Formats: sequence, structure tokens, C-alpha cells
Amino acid sequence: MIIGSNILFFQNLPSTNSHALGLLKKSKPQEGTILCTNYQSAGRGYSDNNWESEDGKNLLISIILYPSFLKPGDQFLISMTISLGVCDFLMRFIPECSIKWPNDIWVKNDKIAGLLLESSLSENKIEVTVAGIGLNINQKKFLSNAPNPVSLNQLTGESYDLALSLEKLSADLDKRYKQLIGGNWVEIKKEYVLKLYRLNEWHKFRDKDGIFTGRVLTVGDYGRLVIERQTGKKTEYSFKETEFIL
Ligand code: BTN
Repeated sequence: MIIGSNILFFQNLPSTNSHALGLLKKSKPQEGTILCTNYQSAGRGYSDNNWESEDGKNLLISIILYPSFLKPGDQFLISMTISLGVCDFLMRFIPECSIKWPNDIWVKNDKIAGLLLESSLSENKIEVTVAGIGLNINQKKFLSNAPNPVSLNQLTGESYDLALSLEKLSADLDKRYKQLIGGNWVEIKKEYVLKLYRLNEWHKFRDKDGIFTGRVLTVGDYGRLVIERQTGKKTEYSFKETEFIL
């Protein structure tokens, strides 16, 4: 076991990702170390968003990885791997979930998990990745204005033991990380694409030129999203260059 071989639990922290990055400045925790907390006072999401999570209700974790077998340009493989691991976990309890590019996990039109991956790169390899995961498990009400949050409890009506859930999640992530180490990248990309939110469906998107109708076809180099317009024109977007209109 790599992911989950060492678990550090904290009653509360400002942010598991920030704490992991701090630890890495003064030590080299073993690969797969998971930092886990009940509550974050400054949980971070993408684009300086806060990550809302009620005390003791959800999984808030950061995993320390040293994927030095990957080149900086292959960074997106880690996003794909971790996203698939979170989906594997969810599919133990619900029949479907999807990955809203680049790495939000959605169930139908609601967001159940968010990933915040922070890596440090050298010229030709990835030195370290802190993979932060916020996964809504037992929370019944969300107060922030984040778009469409949902928890497993809201979907199934069940309550879940967080320690047991963490065990299952880390087993699923470990399996996927071993698939990545094993070099089966074609399969990882294939499975990731098949799980993409709104894959092959015509919907509205926004880019710098305005709103357009298009459909998600695949991901290209560096994980860029490939969207086809009704004219047949295909465009590749980097993160933040396009957004789904919900
Ligand atoms: C997003 O969707 O914007 C990403 C959210 C990531 C939240 C998790 S919770 C655990 C880890 N620590 C943080 O501060 N953020 C990530």
C-alpha cells in the first residue's frame, strides 16, 4: 500500500494542503502519507475560493506523492488518476458520478467533491504533489454560495462512518495510483474521458468570445479540454479558458 500507508489525523487545521506543504519544507514524509482533519478554518479551493465543510461531517484530506516518474508535461495524469479514485469510491454507494473537467466530481448536476492539486516541478520531473480532496459525506446543509454542493448523505439518506470511508477511499486511490505507476496511461485517460461530465452532449459553454453551443469530445495534450462546435470546428481549452453554463 502506498496511499494510506501513513495517516496523520488533526482535530482541526487551517488547511490540510497548506499543512502538507509546510511539512514538506522541513521533512520528507513517506510517499502516500495522508493528512486528514475534521475541520479546516481556511480550506482552500481553486481560484482562491473557500472550501465549505461542517466540522466532523466530511472527508478533508491531502495526500503527499512523489511522482518523479512523470515529466512536468504529464502532470494532468495525476488529476485523472485521483479523480478516477474518488469516482471508484463513490460508485460503491451510488450508481453514477462524473468528472466535471478538470477535476470536480459531480453527481448529475451537483458537486460532491473537489480536488486541489499542488505540485512542485523540476526541469524534467514532478518532485512532489499534494493532492487535496474535499469529499462531502454526511453534511446535510450547505451555506456558502458555491454552485450546487451535495453530499453522499443527501443522495442516499444514509450516514457514513468517516474512518471507514477514509479506509475505502484510500484503498481506491491506492489502486489507481498503482495503475499510474504501472504505466497504463492509455487506460487511465480512456476511463477519465468516459466519465467526463456532459461528454458528447450539446450544451452551452462560455469562453473569452462569449456563449456558444458545443460538445466535449476528449482531453488533449496537457489535459486541455477539446470542445467541438456545431460547425465542426474543434478548440482546445486550458483551465479557466472555458466554463460550462449550468
Ligand atoms: C475546488 O473544488 O475548488 C477544490 C477544493 C479542494 C478542497 C480540499 S479539502 C482538503 C484540501 N485542503 C484544502 O485546503 N483544500 C483541499
